[in-house]
Amino acid sequence: METNTSLNTRKQQATPRGVGVMCDWYAQKSENATIWATDGRTFTDFAGGIAVLNTGHRHPKIIKAVSNQLEHFTHTAYQVTPYESYISLAERINALAPIDGDAKTAFFTTGAEAVENAVKIARSYTGRHGIITFGNAFHGRSFMTMAMTGKIAPYKRDFGVMPAGVFHARYPVACNGITVDDAIESIHNIFSEDISAHDVAAIVLEPVQGEGGFHIAPTEFLTQLREICDAHGILLIADEVQSGFARTGQIFAMQYHDVKADLITMAKSLGGGFPISGVVGRAEVMDAPNAGGLGGTYAGSPIAVAAAHAVLDVIEEEKLCDRANTLGKTLVTLLETLKEKYPAVIQDIRALGSMIAVEVQNADIAKAIQNHAMEHGLLLLTCGKHGNVIRFLYPLTIPTEQFNAGLNILEKSFASL
Ligand SMILES: Cc1ncc(COP(=O)(O)O)c(C=O)c1O
Repeated sequence: METNTSLNTRKQQATPRGVGVMCDWYAQKSENATIWATDGRTFTDFAGGIAVLNTGHRHPKIIKAVSNQLEHFTHTAYQVTPYESYISLAERINALAPIDGDAKTAFFTTGAEAVENAVKIARSYTGRHGIITFGNAFHGRSFMTMAMTGKIAPYKRDFGVMPAGVFHARYPVACNGITVDDAIESIHNIFSEDISAHDVAAIVLEPVQGEGGFHIAPTEFLTQLREICDAHGILLIADEVQSGFARTGQIFAMQYHDVKADLITMAKSLGGGFPISGVVGRAEVMDAPNAGGLGGTYAGSPIAVAAAHAVLDVIEEEKLCDRANTLGKTLVTLLETLKEKYPAVIQDIRALGSMIAVEVQNADIAKAIQNHAMEHGLLLLTCGKHGNVIRFLYPLTIPTEQFNAGLNILEKSFASL
């Protein structure tokens, strides 16, 4: 068996440092909420492959659906030879998504690709070019989505001039003193200082910021954004790549609000470990681009589409939205107890269903907790502008006993500070 040291040396020699890697051990096998490492250790996965595994690693129903698809065909390119499963998946998403009136869905492969395509659709529909996103946003690593991302290091640093026409407003973050009024004012400032409202195609926001630190947009903010969009003919795009598919206790986080987006992007947990993304939106908006303007060789791969059908079945059959709320309550209760015990360490707790984060004093403390947890077999992710937020993205299918054991490790990690 090759050692971690030897694998790490080979990694360093064969792959660039730009692909930053968190763990210094290697995966061999995984199932539900457990990852077995090649060095014989096991880990409880509270990272979920960065929000991809709401239905857990290798859910038997997903594996079965994919295996069945492998027996039929693996790739035709949907734009060349279509298949029914793509259409029926679109029909299911159209029925589930909180979109006003008739909806249509197109599938792609990655989250960044979904966001890119949402921008293309918005530009095509409005005939305008401008895009407003938010400070601390994360929308991907392609050039347009990198421009839309509201954080320089590490995402934009040294990559030169970004595509033009992207402007950043402020995202309301109560604990940082940014009110809804401040955020709305920043949009009006963009209209008066950077780009006329009638040149703006879309405002793109994460209803719960992911990489930015799990900040939750208040309904009041979304209501005012909708009013601004309606007043100026601007589209509202919700990026639900991280918040989608039961994580927040709803299929889409936008379901918590009485406000509808024109387009919603999705990816990650839609595919349960297989790469698929999509854009759902108002039918007339989705139909704006000309035939051939949307797509991609692998977009809506039949294997990933089969997985996505199974994901939707599992979410429904195993009541994963309810489960997200139940698990979330248990974790929040623990975090509140920890806040009472360590008031100087814990600055804020943010939770919507099981999209939960705890903000600690600084990045060193977050790292220390993450390292201690990993040494004891629990995988945690950090996020946030300053890297001082620990986020929880455990599979919603995790057995209760394993979940509680994970919380026990978390508690000990705080105690170890
Ligand atoms: C909200 C959001 N949008 C877009 C992306 C980009 O997705 P991908 O990494 O699949 O391109 C991410 C990834 O973390 C995300 O969290």
